[in-house]
Amino acid sequence: MTRRAVIAGIGSHLPERIVENAEFADRMGLETSDEWIRERTGIKRRHFAADDETTSDLGFKAARKALENAGLTPADLDLVLVATSTPDLTFPSTATMIQHRLGMTHGAAFDVQAVCSGFLYGMHTANALIRSGAHDRILLIGAETFSRILDFEDRSTCVLFGDGAGAVVLEAADDPDRGIIHTVIRSNGAHKDMLYVDGGPSATGTVGKLRMLGNAVFKHAVTDIAGIIRTCAEEAGQDVPSIDWFIPHQANQRILVAVARKLKLRPEQVVSTVAEHANTSAASVPLAWDAAVRDGRIQRGDSIMLEAFGGGFTWGACLLRY
Ligand code: UT7
Repeated sequence: MTRRAVIAGIGSHLPERIVENAEFADRMGLETSDEWIRERTGIKRRHFAADDETTSDLGFKAARKALENAGLTPADLDLVLVATSTPDLTFPSTATMIQHRLGMTHGAAFDVQAVCSGFLYGMHTANALIRSGAHDRILLIGAETFSRILDFEDRSTCVLFGDGAGAVVLEAADDPDRGIIHTVIRSNGAHKDMLYVDGGPSATGTVGKLRMLGNAVFKHAVTDIAGIIRTCAEEAGQDVPSIDWFIPHQANQRILVAVARKLKLRPEQVVSTVAEHANTSAASVPLAWDAAVRDGRIQRGDSIMLEAFGGGFTWGACLLRY
């Protein structure tokens, strides 16, 4: 038997509050505009969590939808993974909090920290754990409240991010026509200072705010994303343009376009939600994936390439058949 990790269900959740670009433009002293944000990033609006709404709240709601979509209950799971860089607390993990809210007293739960690539690192981990036989059914959630770590006086970063969560249920199956085909993850700590949060429990005893040299990150992102997609497809013996759908990390529409051009993809193959969600870090790929499933574009049996790039730097790609 060939154990494959197949996608049993998918779901997502966005907080209610929608923040339009105009809100930043109206903010005294920020000196930005709806036009600049749209032209340089493609972002029109984003969702922000309410003051009393946490990452585990968003992740829990996405998880319930993914389980419902899979026709499964928490009793069927044996592992909960949460990709996040904005946990409710330094510890315990957001994964154990969501495990508890799901009513699970069995199985295990842990967080995966790879910033915007967290969901891809989660897919890599879940795939390996299912293929090895260590776990049979894994709930993987990408959930973030980046609004909590934004410096609202820094126009070069505060307009770029949003909050949200997406989740998938992965299960072992002996089915050569479905599931994760191949995953590749990479990291390089040399560029830490280009994208980081300037606080943490051990270094400062504070939470900190996000800092980014956007232009430098942009260039690395385009090169590394195109490279890892090629590697992932090549190692799987697949021709890149023949893949049905590309679901990229939603950081900037100009990055999506530049990568698509490098790989000779048609714009219709690329799922983009950056206009509506902005960059939701580890939640961005499952949010975009779920949106394209719900609007009927992505059908069972379609081939999909997921990719992400983020702080670390970390980056990753995953080829699968939905
Ligand atoms: O999720 C992790 C991965 N993250 C990313 O991939 C983000 C990658 N980077 C980007 O998306 C883009 O680099 C940004 C959207 C962050 C910036 O766009 P850019 O075209 O690279 O602009 P820039 O940083 O080169 O700045 C151009 C100008 C600067 O003014 P001067 O120096 O030319 O006078 C900035 O000060 O735009 C200015 N600027 C703004 N102006 C109005 C920067 N942010 C804003 C703003 N509103 N919000």
